[in-house]
Amino acid sequence: MKKYTLTTTVLCVLIGLSVPAFAASKNPAEDLFYSKCSRCHGSELALKKKKSHDQWIDTIKRMETFGLDISRGERKDIADYLAKRK
Ligand code: HEC
Repeated sequence: MKKYTLTTTVLCVLIGLSVPAFAASKNPAEDLFYSKCSRCHGSELALKKKKSHDQWIDTIKRMETFGLDISRGERKDIADYLAKRK
């Protein structure tokens, strides 16, 4: 019984970590941005810039040449988030 509870807890934590979008966030794209884009430099570097959606796509593609690991869908979500932010 005790073992069950532990397994369930571990599973919940793992699921929570792998899908932060469903964990506790109002904006999944924002979470994605913070998790993907603050590894090499601070997130302010991107947050202080104003770019269009297409310019963000180009920027993110350039980040991929530095070693950013991101899917096409994630790239688009982050570009949307950054372009729409006021
Ligand atoms: C693998 C490391 C790495 C990751 C991850 C990374 N960057 Fe960068 N970023 C860099 C480096 C290196 C520079 C400076 C060189 C340059 O600007 O080309 C930079 C510069 C920038 C700049 C300033 C230059 C410009 O074009 O305005 C912005 C904005 C930026 N990154 C946004 C992002 C965003 C958004 C993400 C997430 C999608 C991200 N970065 C993730 C390495 C990274």
